[in-house]
Amino acid sequence: MFRQATKQATRQLIANSRAITAKRALSVAARKTATSGLRSTAFAAKPLVATRGIKQINFGGVEETVYERADWPREKLLNYFKDDTLALIGYGSQGYGQGLNLRDNGLNVIVGVRKNGASWKAAIEDGWVPGENLFDVQEAVKKGTYVMNLLSDAAQSETWPALKPLLTKEKTLYFSHGFSPVFKDLTHVEPPTDIDVILVAPKGSGRTVRSLFKEGRGINSSYAVWNDVSGKAHEKAQALAVAVGSGYVYQTTFEKEVNSDLYGERGCLMGGIHGMFLAQYEVLRENGHSPSEAFNETVEEATQSLYPLIGKYGMDYMYDACSTTARRGALDWYPIFKNALKPVFQDLYESTKNGSETKRSLEFNSQPDYREKLEAELETIRNMEIWRVGKEVRKLRPENN
Ligand SMILES: NC(=O)c1ccc[n+]([C@@H]2O[C@H](COP(=O)([O-])OP(=O)(O)OC[C@H]3O[C@@H](n4cnc5c(N)ncnc54)[C@H](OP(=O)(O)O)[C@@H]3O)[C@@H](O)[C@H]2O)c1
Repeated sequence: MFRQATKQATRQLIANSRAITAKRALSVAARKTATSGLRSTAFAAKPLVATRGIKQINFGGVEETVYERADWPREKLLNYFKDDTLALIGYGSQGYGQGLNLRDNGLNVIVGVRKNGASWKAAIEDGWVPGENLFDVQEAVKKGTYVMNLLSDAAQSETWPALKPLLTKEKTLYFSHGFSPVFKDLTHVEPPTDIDVILVAPKGSGRTVRSLFKEGRGINSSYAVWNDVSGKAHEKAQALAVAVGSGYVYQTTFEKEVNSDLYGERGCLMGGIHGMFLAQYEVLRENGHSPSEAFNETVEEATQSLYPLIGKYGMDYMYDACSTTARRGALDWYPIFKNALKPVFQDLYESTKNGSETKRSLEFNSQPDYREKLEAELETIRNMEIWRVGKEVRKLRPENN
């Protein structure tokens, strides 16, 4: 099967390469490797079978415990939470994904959002019924045995004075980000010390949490414990992680979760990669290259041809799949980029750890017109030449013809 899948992937890769640019072709050697089944041993050693469970995995020399869906089959989840009401507060990206997955898993979940806001309307459209399983925030918190705080991070801070007194002893408090409690000096969110406080952070948007669940897969998530008053906080977090739609779950701390998350999204996941695309594109344009050439050599080939290979088979595989000329140059230049960028990443980590990023986020996202201001910034991006060119290039993809 792997051979077949690899052959398909290779055919796709060749098609993409031809469509995008003829310049960088697959080397004969890489094609041979891709179709010869040489890599099938490594792939076959990690089959995706439903029977996996808790296991120790050696990640590059470091042993970690990983929890999987198989540890919490549906019947076990239903039994574990049979006396509970899961009060999910906030129905934005995560509220939508986690909430619908909990509901589809058959658990007793209710949603709490401010009445007549955008989320209230969205929740009704998704089948939540006012007075039955849709309430205002405070009412839902009162009813819940688990309070799943999925308000935006700025709103968690804003609403805390009203919510904290409602977090009585028998409840468990849940977050999907370490932001509020870790930076409590800025957010003023100081969880009560007499209740369990846990975290499950899906590594993706709420839309992905939902779509992967519907595909019968699951998103990767981390979990952490802030307070373990009952002695069962770890178990609760692992169970809830699976209940909201995680495929596998690894342990972290609230501090590590928030620092890695803020750092990652400002770096390689979003800000860093955007900055690198812009820098490369601008230099090409300044040197007389056409917009379509600059875009294809910067973004289209990356996202359509090479990055999917990194995701599926690893960086070495991607190198292996490119021409000898491309390989030589990339091998010579990656340390130069790494050395130039590392100080920027060090500054970014410091800015995350010392709370500067949190302060900036709270200040910006607490403004009444933050959505309009954000939209104005996104409009600027939308209107940049590179992304306007991208819109046209996408239309030329074979699947859009
Ligand atoms: N989005 C992601 O990809 C992602 C991934 C992992 C973890 N997380 C974490 O998950 C949590 C939820 O994030 P999210 O992205 O789902 O949030 P979001 O989409 O920004 O959701 C905002 C929710 O907060 C409500 N809200 C905003 N201001 C409010 C206020 N003043 N009073 C009451 N409600 C208010 C909104 O209700 P209205 O519609 O009424 O304004 C909406 O239901 C955060 O801790 C976030 O860091 C997010």
